[in-house]
Amino acid sequence: MSKNIPITVAHGDGIGPEIMAATLKILDAAGARITPEFVEVGEKVYLDGNTTGVPDSAWESMLRTKVLLKAPITTPQGGGYKSVNVTIRKTLGLYANVRPSRAYVPYVSSNFPDMDLVIVRENEEGLYAGIEHRQTNDTYQTLKIYSRPGCERIIRYAFEYAKRFNRRKITCLSKDNIMKLTDGLFHKVFNEIAQEYPGFETEHLIVDIGTALLAARPERFDVIVTSNLYGDILSDVASQIAGSVGLSGSANIGRDMAMFEAVHGSAPDISGKNIANPSGLLNGAVQMLIHINQNDVAAKIQNAWLCCLEKGMHTADIYNNHYSKEKLGTEQFAQAVIDNLGEKPQKFHAVSFQISEDSHFTELHEKVSKEKAKKELVGIDIFIDSDNADVLPLCEKIAKVSGPLKLIAITNRGLKIWPGNPVHCFVSDQWCCRFQASEDFTATSFEDLSIQMKALHEAGLEIVKTENLYTFDGERGFSLAQGQ
Ligand code: NAI
Repeated sequence: MSKNIPITVAHGDGIGPEIMAATLKILDAAGARITPEFVEVGEKVYLDGNTTGVPDSAWESMLRTKVLLKAPITTPQGGGYKSVNVTIRKTLGLYANVRPSRAYVPYVSSNFPDMDLVIVRENEEGLYAGIEHRQTNDTYQTLKIYSRPGCERIIRYAFEYAKRFNRRKITCLSKDNIMKLTDGLFHKVFNEIAQEYPGFETEHLIVDIGTALLAARPERFDVIVTSNLYGDILSDVASQIAGSVGLSGSANIGRDMAMFEAVHGSAPDISGKNIANPSGLLNGAVQMLIHINQNDVAAKIQNAWLCCLEKGMHTADIYNNHYSKEKLGTEQFAQAVIDNLGEKPQKFHAVSFQISEDSHFTELHEKVSKEKAKKELVGIDIFIDSDNADVLPLCEKIAKVSGPLKLIAITNRGLKIWPGNPVHCFVSDQWCCRFQASEDFTATSFEDLSIQMKALHEAGLEIVKTENLYTFDGERGFSLAQGQ
């Protein structure tokens, strides 16, 4: 008999304690070889004055056990409280968010009986880097950060996941027709890594049509790999059209650590009533058992759970007049799953979680390319705050400032305003002045950039931000403005 594995368990807020108690009771009855260590994170910790929501003792346990089973957490509105979920994902480097969504028709209503897909979402980068600034009275920005290693890791993870769980097709979703550098990198890396996995069907779709197809024909997808925000939105769409957000579990995987949870939140509206569906957290726990190589227990629980669904033993959120036989509370549903342990479903396919031994999960975290491109400084974008409604005089004032660099263009919200005819559209109070050593990519120096900035400052222009312009192996590392 293998020895018990310690795991960290957070009871969470709202319905969290109820669904966690139900889940742990099922794990125990199924013979999961685990030893839970309980930690407090979330609302109580926030209200005790810790704005991160995670005390040192919880970090200590997580870092030691390397596995966290977490019920949903309530993030208080306002007050500078940081989301526990985002903090844990980022601090522990949980870069892959894996969200399976499948239909359980006819027992749970869905228009898509054949839907069975997995969304692999990048979990640390993109728009969730959380780097935001207000630069002028009217203008706010958030930075979308993609790194090549970040893209390589998540895309390789998606292929390895497909290999491990015998899935055949991988779809990459990006918006590289608009964001050619960031989303362009994601798409490019997908094409490169696809070459390493010749046995798979692969495709790339622009995320908008990809989302529309997901909503209309989800059965055409198998594994979807995408960036942080797109993955967040898509996985909620997928859970919803599969039947209920209350059913889906999610895994957050990093190099050394992993966290498992339900997709839904803490549902304060139904907390304390013994009516919450524990299935989302239970399905997260099933993923955890596979992660710690207890596939036998995972399959036993999943099959018992499928039995309950097809026998019409349903919680209120999925109760329907056609197929439901009993409306069960949280505790009663957990007991029903326990009573069915050892049974195989008759209508659904029984699961076995057989894993392909040919996958290389453990190696893939380190496998990132280390090639370095030759980087050359060729100019600077200098952003200026001006609410001067008279566009032309402002542009002329900027153009008249003499310095070592050449003014290439002035843009407003990404649209070229100068040189050329003034446009007749709305302009904001933030102006981007693009200076380069020449029209081409002639190298310049940091000294020249600072002399140029000083000259603008001395001409009375307020600089709110700068962005250096580089080439990499002679290729432009910045976008052109619309109309440039
Ligand atoms: P929610 O997912 O908690 O609730 C949305 C709706 O679904 C509610 O009507 C709720 O009653 C229902 N619902 C959710 N889970 C259910 C279940 N297991 N059984 C039956 N019905 C269920 O989303 P909401 O209301 O936007 O967020 C509530 C709190 O949860 C917020 O503080 C939010 O920040 C937090 N949250 C936490 C997450 C996490 O810890 N991973 C994820 C999402 C939200």
